Amino acid sequence: MKADMIVGIQWGDEGKGKIVDLMAQHYDVVCRYQGGHNAGHTIWVDGVRYALHLIPSGILNPKALNVIGNGVVVCPEALIKEMAQFDKLEGRLFVSDKAHMILNHHILIDQAKEKLRGAKAIGTTGRGIGPSYGSKIERSGHRLGELRDTEKLTLALVEFYDENRALFSALGIVTPNYETLKKELDGYAKVLLPFLTDTTHMIWTCLDENKKVLLEGAQGTMLDIDHGTYPFVTSSNTISAGACVGLGLNPKDIGKVTGIVKAYCTRVGNGPFPTEDFGAEGDQLREKGHEYGTSTGRARRCGWFDAVACRYASRINGCDDLAIMKLDVLDGFESIKVCVAYEVNGKRVETLPEDLENLKPIYEELPGWESVVGCRKFEDLPETAKTYLKRLEVLTGTKIGLISTSPDRNDTIIL
Ligand code: GDP
Ligand code: IMO
Ligand code: MG
Repeated sequence: MKADMIVGIQWGDEGKGKIVDLMAQHYDVVCRYQGGHNAGHTIWVDGVRYALHLIPSGILNPKALNVIGNGVVVCPEALIKEMAQFDKLEGRLFVSDKAHMILNHHILIDQAKEKLRGAKAIGTTGRGIGPSYGSKIERSGHRLGELRDTEKLTLALVEFYDENRALFSALGIVTPNYETLKKELDGYAKVLLPFLTDTTHMIWTCLDENKKVLLEGAQGTMLDIDHGTYPFVTSSNTISAGACVGLGLNPKDIGKVTGIVKAYCTRVGNGPFPTEDFGAEGDQLREKGHEYGTSTGRARRCGWFDAVACRYASRINGCDDLAIMKLDVLDGFESIKVCVAYEVNGKRVETLPEDLENLKPIYEELPGWESVVGCRKFEDLPETAKTYLKRLEVLTGTKIGLISTSPDRNDTIIL
């Protein structure tokens, strides 16, 4: 059996949580493969709101197993806090012992460096994501499996703090002493050790036994460290290829890829956003779409569907289809803009350039509709909404497999 995947197409917050939760009802295993608790996946079930950051969204399906793969950076404190929301996680949650840890110093470095960047700040979530992946790449990171010997780990960290004393004092960071750190790590070990395992072999076995496996992406394609709007990106490979590395799969293990995309566009944090609307319509999108971050509560920047970026994202992820989210947020707009190309140095460009700062979006305007909220059948959509969706299919070169018309699991059109 191959593993299916959902992946964010824009700058994150597309509605991945709702779709993973919906799909998880039909899967045996749900896996996260990159990112950390910078992710915020909101799920509404029967009027109850769940906000997940590290635990896969399959946790709301009592029958599904949930895996946090080696490619995720895990803040032990954040994971333990999130785990406390759920009863009986033993046998339902499995965490890779190869996943790197986000420790306190990573969080403090992230926040201190953002302050130093001033006007050039990335607008990170301040969760230590970049510094933790940085430690991993420069080979000074520590993996969850090292919690099996906290004395050795504590000694290694204290030595690291001593060697880097100058850096820490320049950033105004106070590092813990041996006793404090050992106590902290022992606390993590006590809770987390029963959940640590070799998730790579576990997933291989699941696939060999024809179990249905779903891979849950975090963030979005335009935040990918290699293929996004660098340096205003996160520090992992958010695209579908990241799932192979982040779980120990090979490309032949991957089955259907579904791209999750909003019917408009948002971005939180700094960096280029060609279709951003700074006027009243941008504000209307923010208020109607409740576009405030799940993790940080920050107001999201809002704008129009960018078909050029979506076409690029669909190709790079190998999307078999797209899930169009939050169509209801466009209810009541007289007309709706879609970016079909960019103007770069006076020329029309239909592919994504490296520099997204110095261009102008070229829009096509389509007629709006009164209401689609709660709609569950394609036939019941207003004609103008159908025309909008069909136009998106043509512009992105990808068929639409699902349309979402409210946060509720059931308000979904499956095509
Ligand atoms: P994720 O990070 O991709 O999982 O997305 P977030 O959870 O950060 O943000 C998406 C938000 O939109 C959440 O608050 C969802 O409850 C909400 N949402 C998802 N689908 C729909 C929809 O079709 N309509 C509306 N109005 N809200 C939706
Ligand atoms: P989900 O999974 C939206 C953004 C941050 C910042 C940049 C780098 O909910 O879609 P980081 O803390 O990762 O170093 O910040 O990435 N960012 C997200 N934006 N949704 C997310 O996750 C995000 N995770 C990180 O705002 O611009
Ligand atoms: Mg989110």
